[in-house]
Amino acid sequence: MTTKLTWLGHGTWLIDTGEHRVLLDPFLNDNPTCPVQADQVECDFILISHGHFDHVADAAAVARRTGATVIAIFEICQWLQKQGVEESKTWAMNLGGSCQQPFGRVKLTPAVHSSTLPDGSSGGDPGGFLLTLAEGKVYFACDTALFSDMELIGRAGLDVAVLPIGDNFTMGPEDALEAVKLLRPRCVIPAHYNTWPPIAQDAQAWAHRVKEQTGVEAVVLEPGGEYSL
Ligand code: NI
Ligand code: MN
Repeated sequence: MTTKLTWLGHGTWLIDTGEHRVLLDPFLNDNPTCPVQADQVECDFILISHGHFDHVADAAAVARRTGATVIAIFEICQWLQKQGVEESKTWAMNLGGSCQQPFGRVKLTPAVHSSTLPDGSSGGDPGGFLLTLAEGKVYFACDTALFSDMELIGRAGLDVAVLPIGDNFTMGPEDALEAVKLLRPRCVIPAHYNTWPPIAQDAQAWAHRVKEQTGVEAVVLEPGGEYSL
């Protein structure tokens, strides 16, 4: 069985293990590069990295419709319950913690960013996810600046790292290249770029530099494109 990572544009991903479908940071209907609508997505788990609109926009609607369990930091789980998601369908975590789920092990890793929810309430601390799946270890940095503790995350032995390269709201191409050197994944995939003009980037040029300077395979996807583990 293979695990597929499908990029739905911006910071949104669908992880399909064959047995389970995990939606990360659902930003679908208002995401100009997303190839699917929120009412078309099927999943049994949802992961949320932080509270910004472009990561939680469709989370409550998809969770209510599908009955998926949402895994997020405590404050975001509380906010989701106010949006009509049953408490039993939320799984609260905090930074540094791990939990075993039917699709694999989930660790909520730190991120350097902010995390205010759409209604102005606090989304707690922003995070990323280190997933230990049957087919390998995948690190989603999600929205973050470069930070040196990425070297510690890389010690897990990463098969794939998904890094933001858009700049402005997250690290840009230069710092993402440094992140690859700290993380040392087998493969890196860029995300969180080309959604809007302020985060326009040449991902192919970045991938070329990664390969040249680190030897790490860099895979550039189009929205809707997938990578198989
Ligand atoms: Ni953000
Ligand atoms: Mn974002």
